[in-house]
Order: sequence, then structure tokens, then C-alpha cells
Amino acid sequence: MATLLVTGGAGFIGSNFVHHVLDHTDHEVVVLDKLTYAGNLASLDGLPAGRFRFVHGDIADPTVVDELVGGVDAVVHYAAESHNDNSLHDPRPFLDTNIIGTYTLLEAVRRHEKRFHHISTDEVYGDLELDDPARFTEHTPYNPSSPYSSTKAGSDLLVRAWVRSFGVQATISNCSNNYGPYQHVEKFIPRQITNVIRGIRPKLYGKGENVRDWIHADDHSSAVLTILDRGVIGETYLIGADGEKNNKDVVELILTLMGQPADAYDHVTDRAGHDLRYAIDSTKLRTDLGWTPQYSDFDAGLAATIDWYRTNEAWWAPTKDGVEAFYASKGQ
Ligand code: NAD
Ligand code: DAU
Repeated sequence: MATLLVTGGAGFIGSNFVHHVLDHTDHEVVVLDKLTYAGNLASLDGLPAGRFRFVHGDIADPTVVDELVGGVDAVVHYAAESHNDNSLHDPRPFLDTNIIGTYTLLEAVRRHEKRFHHISTDEVYGDLELDDPARFTEHTPYNPSSPYSSTKAGSDLLVRAWVRSFGVQATISNCSNNYGPYQHVEKFIPRQITNVIRGIRPKLYGKGENVRDWIHADDHSSAVLTILDRGVIGETYLIGADGEKNNKDVVELILTLMGQPADAYDHVTDRAGHDLRYAIDSTKLRTDLGWTPQYSDFDAGLAATIDWYRTNEAWWAPTKDGVEAFYASKGQ
């Protein structure tokens, strides 16, 4: 049994991880979250009070971070500004949280000699051509495209430097696109599902040929637990579930699963610098650490996600109008 400090635990993937840990282990969890627009305490409703504590604070605040890190066994670092479109509109918070926040945590785990796991993204590798058979591996050179992905790349490099220069006991994982419950409606899949529920036509950027490699958030959680248990210090692991799909196919599948004509969507202004294709080769994680994803059927996982948004309208409704107004102001 261990006590984990989970940063960003009120966000999408962090809250899924907290539920997964409390359901599948006897660990205790402390969440540190700033509750930005992306954090939602309702995502942590119903957790066992004896094993879970929430702290409202900023990962870039050395005082709060130092005190919390001193009292736990390990830190699992999810907190970030996570949305590419927001990073094109206002990059500054991405530097503050993703770079300075990660630096602040690294200094605390260095001081207290605590285990650290850094959550990152496949976007640090840039993009692949649509017809390129290659996938990203742990050896792919970094080539980020957006303010978001460049700050995540910077944070990964800080972790590597703190391992090599100061002996910090850290691992890194770079995961592909997650879907599942508790994802903010600004993101692609929840935006289109909640659009259909609201009677708004889904919005596809450009031609919709861009490919993303989808993984259920629960599989991301089991992979991170596996790395925490058995990962080799200083190593990077890529997390993916062989879920490549282009955006057009995903929108059409959402519409079909929701009983609408498959072509009832609009093409809108493309994202600036839009990455073409992401694809993960997760052989190292599967072979070295024995991890296997459980959600192999994307259609079934997507149908369950649609059900979740239908059942939990109170969770997302307060944010929906503001998100759509923001996109509308950009022709998206
Ligand atoms: P999210 O935007 O849903 O949640 C981020 C959480 O971090 C929110 O609860 C927010 O309040 C909190 N936060 C932001 N700034 C903070 C700060 N300064 N101090 C404390 N808390 C702060 O993000 P997500 O999609 O759940 O992503 C979580 C992590 O996973 C990120 O590091 C992201 O880069 C990474 N990741 C995401 C995906 C994906 O598909 N969403 C894929 C791979 C990796
Ligand atoms: O690959 C991992 C990354 O996946 C994470 O690092 C990011 O935190 C996460 O947000 C996600 O990034 P993307 O930019 O790929 O996700 P997003 O949901 O914003 O968009 C997915 C694809 O859908 C992308 O090609 C843009 C497109 N899109 C998005 C929106 C919001 C649309 O076509 N229409 C939309 O309305």
C-alpha cells in the first residue's frame, strides 16, 4: 500500500486514474488540482473518504507542492493545460503550468527523494504522413508542432535532465488520444456527442482526414499503474491500443450510434498547424512490462461513452454554451 499524490486529478484522465486506483488497489490518493476551467470536483464524487483527499492548489506553487510531496510515497503528474486550440489562442498558461509547474514538482521530488511518474503525450513527436507505415516509438525524435505540444516536450526534457543530473527516480509515459467518461466538452469526441444531444450539427476541422490513435482512459490508467509498479527508472514508455481512425470516420460513427444520418455534420475552419497523423507502437510496454489494453472494441467503448454523456448531462451542461461560443468566434 502506498500514498500517491495525483496532480490534475480533477481533470479527465487524472480523475479516471483516481477511480481506477481506488477500485483496483489498496493505495491512498491525494489529489492536487487548481480547478481551472478543465477541473471538475464532480468527477471525484463518491470516492471513499478514508482513502482519498482533495487539495485545491497550483503545481507551480512551491510551498503547497513541497508540503504535499513530503507526505506521500510517489507523485503521478497529470496536471497540465491540455487543449491545442486553447494553446493557439493564449499560450501563456501552457508555459506556466506545463513547464514551471513540472519544474516545481521535480524540485520537490528531488528534495524529498520521492518516486515520480510524468504523464505526457504522443504529440511531442510531431506528426506522421497518412501513407507512412511508421509509428512512433521511444526512439522517435521530438518534433512538436503546437504551443501545447512544445510545452509538453519541454516538460519531458526537464524530467530526463532531473533523472540524469540529480538522480531523480522518475519514469515518463507518452500516450495517444484518450476517450471515455469525464472528458471536457471542448475535446473532439465529447464535443460531437454533446452537439448531437443538443441538436447541433457536429463540426469537423478541414476535410477530416487527420488520424488519431484512440485509447480508452481506463486502459491509460492500467498502463500507468503498471509503469509505477514495474517500470525501470529513467525509462520512457509509449502507451497505445492500436486505435488509429480518421476524424471523419469517428464523426460518422458517433452520428450512426446516436441514430442520426452519418452525413449530418459540418466541415469548419481547420486548426492552424493541424497535425496529420499520430500512431503509437507500444511494444516496449507490452513486452517488457506485460501490459495489455482491455478495450479492444472502439465501437463498443464509444457507445458506452455516448451513454455516459447522455446520463450525465448535469456534469457537462454548465460548460457547453461557453465552449460553443468560443469555437463559433473562430469559425469552428
Ligand atoms: P484536462 O485538461 O482534462 O485536465 C487537466 C487538469 O489539470 C484539470 O483538472 C486542471 O484543473 C488541472 N490543472 C491545470 N493547471 C493546473 C495547475 N497549475 N495546478 C494544478 N492543477 C492544474 O487534461 P487531460 O486531458 O486529463 O490530460 C491530463 C494529462 O494527460 C496532461 O498532462 C496531458 O498532456 C496528458 N495526455 C492527455 C491525452 C488526452 O488524450 N487527453 C493524451 C495523452 C496525454
Ligand atoms: O495525442 C494526444 C493528445 O490528444 C493529447 O496530448 C491532448 O491533450 C488531447 O487534447 C488530444 O489532442 P488532439 O488535438 O488530438 O485532440 P482534440 O480532441 O482537440 O482533437 C482531435 C482531432 O479532432 C484533431 O485532429 C482535431 C479534430 N477536431 C477537434 C475538435 C475539437 C475536429 O475535427 N473538430 C472539433 O470540433
